Amino acid sequence: MDGNGRWAEARGESRAAGHRAGTETVMRVVQAAAKSGVTFLTLYAFSSENWNRPESEISALFEILLTFIGERESEFVEKKIRLRTIGDLSDFPPRVREAVERVKKETENFTEHCVVVALNYGSRLEVLRAVQRLSADLAAGKLASAPADWAGFSKYLDTDGIPDPDLIIRTSGEYRLSNFLMLQGAYAELYFTDVLWPDFSEKEWAAALEFYSTRERRFGKTSAQIRSDSTPT
Ligand code: IPE
Ligand code: MG
Repeated sequence: MDGNGRWAEARGESRAAGHRAGTETVMRVVQAAAKSGVTFLTLYAFSSENWNRPESEISALFEILLTFIGERESEFVEKKIRLRTIGDLSDFPPRVREAVERVKKETENFTEHCVVVALNYGSRLEVLRAVQRLSADLAAGKLASAPADWAGFSKYLDTDGIPDPDLIIRTSGEYRLSNFLMLQGAYAELYFTDVLWPDFSEKEWAAALEFYSTRERRFGKTSAQIRSDSTPT
């Protein structure tokens, strides 16, 4: 979700105002995803590198997240949207962490729609956490040997139980992944748009899905194989 700061600066407003406007887009996209039949939507809200920002902006982001939860909690419950997170919440202020955990708990039995918020998330630290959990399981004898395949290892990632992304959308004209789902996104289709996150509309969402629908996903196979796989027998 990139471009909040530039959106605000272009209006002579504070960066925090841009982040607040960005939360409106969040709800727009959550609803658009549900309407489009997308079960899992992951939003990169705060990266493990965002701690490098000025303290005033970080605390504004926490306040905006708290307000967002306060205002939208009931909507998640009413619309039966499960909230999950990836990333290390333990570094967040306790009241932010508690609010997030409360909504996660409240919505944990919903299965139709899931919104995953990446908070203090980055792929590199996620891999370190996975290795630490794995080592602990080996040391405790819960696991006889290190997993021999990806399915075995990926259980230790924050995304356990969350399928790999099919499509990754990056807004604001940046062409990079910035440590987002680097392993899970190995075969994701990538969509880049110049639109700043606060301006990302339902129309932009539809354009991203339209792009996705034109892609041939081969997962290492040849185009001819894919065509014959999809030919009805
Ligand atoms: C939002 O956009 C990303 C967050 C960390 C919430 P930015 O704050 O990166 O906006 P730009 O890149 O400065 O425009
Ligand atoms: Mg940015």
